[in-house]
Amino acid sequence: MGKTVTAIMVVANQKGGVGKTTTVLNLALLLSQQGSRVLLVDLDPQASLTAALGLDSYRLDRSSFSLLMYPEMTLTRIMRTISSTLALVPGSVDLAAAAIKMVQEQYPLNRLRGVLRQSRFTFDYVLVDTPPGLNVLTVAALIAADSVIVPAQCSHDAIQGVRALQDVIARIRSAMGNPDLKLRGVLPTFFDPEAVYARKVLEELHALLPGQVFDTPIPYDVMVADAPHMGKAVVDYAPESLGAKAYRRLAEAIGSAKD
Ligand SMILES: Nc1ncnc2c1ncn2[C@@H]1O[C@H](COP(=O)(O)OP(=O)(O)OP(=O)(O)O)[C@@H](O)[C@H]1O
Ligand SMILES: [Mg+2]
Repeated sequence: MGKTVTAIMVVANQKGGVGKTTTVLNLALLLSQQGSRVLLVDLDPQASLTAALGLDSYRLDRSSFSLLMYPEMTLTRIMRTISSTLALVPGSVDLAAAAIKMVQEQYPLNRLRGVLRQSRFTFDYVLVDTPPGLNVLTVAALIAADSVIVPAQCSHDAIQGVRALQDVIARIRSAMGNPDLKLRGVLPTFFDPEAVYARKVLEELHALLPGQVFDTPIPYDVMVADAPHMGKAVVDYAPESLGAKAYRRLAEAIGSAKD
């Protein structure tokens, strides 16, 4: 592959249910199926990424919680092998308590950065799924990241959400020790090309962030919603669906930018 430096990408948007986990999952599967070595990190107390990969987060003895809370913890002790090219640091419900503890005890927020940077030569990509809302877990992820992908549901408040995240990125760059954090792109999700409002939101996103909106919006596609109920991601469940095709184009865009 000729890749030597890991791209640490965080998928974030404080708005809930915009397709963060779906994007992380499908992107990771596609990149790993192409032979890239991918590490997934689930930082969401809901642990939906972990569940999507078939693990019961309530029965795990170690999760990303340990990585945030215990300085002596290493990646290799926590991560689970999913396939020869895919590994997961699972999430767990404890993360909600970790978030409070980190604030109360003024915990160093750059620990995750240090740990993920240790993976520099083991993985081609690290993809981090973050919870909705904006708390220390997402901040720790953004401090650790090279870049951030922002899924934005094509609805009336998409612009507001993206603007708020832009402010957060600016703050992380200027005052939180990650001056090189890049906006990798805004990813329009739940796009319905028939809907006038959705096309308008897409235009507004392009106007707000010229050149920083991925060309291939992820369409609203019932196959994407059905796939988790069949224990799969859409790229495996319905590879010819519009949703799967859109995620393949996204993976190509991300992969080709790195080569
Ligand atoms: N393009 C799509 N078309 C149809 N349904 C989708 C699409 N993308 C995601 N979904 C469904 O919408 C729901 C929310 O998606 P997802 O869990 O990825 O969002 P999220 O941003 O991670 O949510 P949260 O903020 O709660 O973590 C899920 O049930 C998912 O299967
Ligand atoms: Mg999610």
